[in-house]
Amino acid sequence: MSAPSPDEPAPRTRGRTLDHAAAVYDLLAPVMTLGQEGRYRKLAIRLLNPQGGDRVLDVGCGTGILTRQIARRLAGAGACAVGLDAAPKMIAVARRRAASLPHLRFDVGVAEALAYGDASFDGAVSTFFFHHIDADLKRRSLAELLRVLKPGGKLIIVDVDVPSNWFGRLCAWSGYWLFKQEEIRENIRGELRRALADTPFREVSRVAHFSGYVTVFQAVK
Ligand SMILES: C[S@@+](CC[C@H](N)C(=O)[O-])C[C@H]1O[C@@H](n2cnc3c(N)ncnc32)[C@H](O)[C@@H]1O
Repeated sequence: MSAPSPDEPAPRTRGRTLDHAAAVYDLLAPVMTLGQEGRYRKLAIRLLNPQGGDRVLDVGCGTGILTRQIARRLAGAGACAVGLDAAPKMIAVARRRAASLPHLRFDVGVAEALAYGDASFDGAVSTFFFHHIDADLKRRSLAELLRVLKPGGKLIIVDVDVPSNWFGRLCAWSGYWLFKQEEIRENIRGELRRALADTPFREVSRVAHFSGYVTVFQAVK
């Protein structure tokens, strides 16, 4: 794991980064996800099934809770859970909490231009990241995820999606109006689904849907 460097510069991105919320993010997230985030993470890990010497990328990792949970399942040479976020303060929190956990690294960087080699990860995951980037960045980030995954590698995405009932519509549109976040509206209108369907990823499916507005997507390179 790299040494904490709170002064690491923020990379340029149009994504909505959360440097300003890093200190309180873990208190706010359960409110935003109606206390369901533990279930989403559990399912994401079950679907990814990280093990042994796998290398797994968590994009838009925030304070790195899911990245740490993945790292705990890894063992052996080459194993690594890598958490990436464009907000240096989020990464600083993630690094502090990582303490001495092995097989774990946190990088400051942007999903739309990943600084990793082709076919360098066995699996990739992102939870509640895609509603922080616009339609063009969604497509560029998916292309990058495809590039860095090994053939057969799995991608799991958990995010705001097209609402399927009145409760989901209420939650999703409240999120949009609260933050006036166009990227949320794009997800509500199906942009993430379309972007994923337009990639060369295979076996793209929606494996679960929660609270009428959160979908768990699965795709294979
Ligand atoms: C809502 S948080 C999700 C954090 C975590 N995955 C979770 O489920 O709690 C979205 C994260 O995406 C990050 N982000 C925004 N634009 C980004 C970009 N272009 N590349 C990487 N991360 C970005 C933000 O800084 C923020 O930490």
